[in-house]
Amino acid sequence: MRLYQENGYDGMSRRTAGIIAAQLIAKPDCVLGLATGSTPVGAYQQLAAWHREGGLSFQEVTCVNLDEYKGLAPDHDQSYRYFMQHNLFDHVDVRPGFTNVPDGLAADPAAECLRYDTLIRDLGGIDLQLLGLGRNGHIGFNEPGDAFVRPTHVVDLTPSTIEANARFFANAGEVPRQALTMGIGAIMAARHVVVAVSGADKAQAVHDAFCGPVTPQVPASILQLHPHVTLVGDAPALKLLLEAGGPA
Ligand code: F6R
Repeated sequence: MRLYQENGYDGMSRRTAGIIAAQLIAKPDCVLGLATGSTPVGAYQQLAAWHREGGLSFQEVTCVNLDEYKGLAPDHDQSYRYFMQHNLFDHVDVRPGFTNVPDGLAADPAAECLRYDTLIRDLGGIDLQLLGLGRNGHIGFNEPGDAFVRPTHVVDLTPSTIEANARFFANAGEVPRQALTMGIGAIMAARHVVVAVSGADKAQAVHDAFCGPVTPQVPASILQLHPHVTLVGDAPALKLLLEAGGPA
């Protein structure tokens, strides 16, 4: 595993954007797996700036996002489709039909999950998957549980995730209780996984994910078994991991 400790959120964002830009340059028609949340916003802004000012192109790229809230329409301002449009897709030259987010309004969510896995498989898998990390160790919306779930599936969000995400809604009562998420299978099949973390509130999860036991109670811990993971963080997020002697 490669580890980058960067200077604050901005340094973490710039490094993360640099890794994604290198992927775009090395393979212009790559499949990019993308995440939402607060962590990647700075990296997306940097990529948009490099597109605007330096000609970095997304023209041949296909994007597949990790997850979507069940029950939110694409134009709902807290939907992950809306997030991606506003934070990245509207600011780069990605082709509109080549951005994919699970459909939170699908009448048959199980069929939608199957469609999403088929889509990823037909694309030849994911070249680079960007992940944030939940404070409870979740990746995508793969929440702590008794087993790693391989396929895209519908999940019940845990109380801690609902509480963490309530900051984006008027109140916790408005946070959807379920989501559609890419499973551990597609994430582990990605050829390169980039985990971005920032801030002291991620330190315990980073520690548990990368130097604790591999357990579905800490979904990100499965990444210890992935052959090509890059962890990008700032000092507060990496503190406990580095104090423990670094990744296992
Ligand atoms: C987002 C996602 C989540 C977030 C995680 C961290 O698509 O799948 O796993 O990456 O909850 O969120 P932030 O970055 O807001 O701390």
